[in-house]
Amino acid sequence: MPALVLLGAQWGDEGKGKATDLLGGSVDYVVRYQGGNNAGHTVVVGDQKYALHLLPSGILSPGCTPVIGNGVVVDPSVLLSELSGLNERGVDTSKLLISGNAHIITPYNVTVDKVTERFLGKRKIGTTGRGIGPTYADKINRVGIRVQDLYDESILQQKVEAALDVKNQLLTKLYNRRVISADQVVEELLGYAEQIKPYVTDTVLVLNQALEENKVVLFEGGQGTLLDIDHGTYPFVTSSNPTAGGACTGAGVGPTKISRVIGILKAYTTRVGAGPFPTELFDEDGEALRRIGGERGVTTGRDRRCGWFDAVIARYATRVNGLTDFFLTKLDVLTGWEQIPVCVAYEIDGKRVEELPYSQTDFHHAKPVYETLPGWSEDITKAKSFSDLPKNAQNYVKALEEMSGAPISAIGVGPGRDETIEINSFL
Ligand code: IMP
Repeated sequence: MPALVLLGAQWGDEGKGKATDLLGGSVDYVVRYQGGNNAGHTVVVGDQKYALHLLPSGILSPGCTPVIGNGVVVDPSVLLSELSGLNERGVDTSKLLISGNAHIITPYNVTVDKVTERFLGKRKIGTTGRGIGPTYADKINRVGIRVQDLYDESILQQKVEAALDVKNQLLTKLYNRRVISADQVVEELLGYAEQIKPYVTDTVLVLNQALEENKVVLFEGGQGTLLDIDHGTYPFVTSSNPTAGGACTGAGVGPTKISRVIGILKAYTTRVGAGPFPTELFDEDGEALRRIGGERGVTTGRDRRCGWFDAVIARYATRVNGLTDFFLTKLDVLTGWEQIPVCVAYEIDGKRVEELPYSQTDFHHAKPVYETLPGWSEDITKAKSFSDLPKNAQNYVKALEEMSGAPISAIGVGPGRDETIEINSFL
């Protein structure tokens, strides 16, 4: 069982950091394959809490090699500050590997992200403002800057000039901003080059060799299934492929190598930024979920939108990712509700719909059809096995499993590393 993918089954923020970290001790490589520092993982180790944005959570497990794959977009200033922050807290980061083919988030990509959002006004996506979309756009437009370009000054200069050609026209003529100087950008990027160099390598070769040697490789998705550029709620999505196929392109590993795809599923639903969200709550239940669940973005500090569990979305995630099983997180947050509604289908224009509609208009009109399950009031944070859970919590988990289309192999009952019930081993 050498290669596993672990990804968000909803709109991100499902608690992937905890799940990856839990496995980190037993895997040899933890690989990020898409996204950048728009992600936010909170990992609690002992009494220490770490907030990671760009680095794979495997960086906190001493035996594990963390890898930033070719599909990731890297902001070098964020990379270096995250590394030095960890070093100051005594974490050894020397094993990190970064793909030379990963694209760099340049300062002008961040500027373009922010001005585009401002320009869109009330039609904005609600991006994290980290330059993610514009960097992927440059990649697809073939004017991107890659990590390896930092080591050839004249190529870097040419590429930055080419990328800025059109952008400066847009910035000055459309957005009323100042020209960005190519020389200044090149100077800034070269300033990072030597510090990053020791980590840069051909990660595709390293990972494939590792798999040939039967090493355990864990691919860690950022964001979530419904934020996928192809399979998410477009255009309210991120600009990469968090779904399982993204692990293959974003790390250079063939699909035949992947043996297990685990979806991280929160016991309720959250979303940040704009876009449709059928089970969203605007009442005190929503407020309570936000408060008890600590639903505030690790990256942007924005309050997350909160709602009840949506089984239609979970089923969809099972299908588009080929999920083998789920890690259900934050079950403890639901303790105390007498009744817990779960969305089992949608009503769209008066008709009951069991599956996620492909049409954006239909999804915007989807109203949740709820079934209500009895809640529990007992503290579950000390539960070590499934049978330690109160009967109603067990039934809630079983109902979610049945509706979602894949077995639940682990349950998070609190934020700490050890507050997890393992039902089936992941390895
Ligand atoms: P971007 O990834 O910054 O371009 O933002 C696009 C959309 O994805 C916005 O709605 C963000 O709030 C959302 N998003 C990006 N990263 C995350 C994440 O890690 N968790 C949840 N939402 C995210």
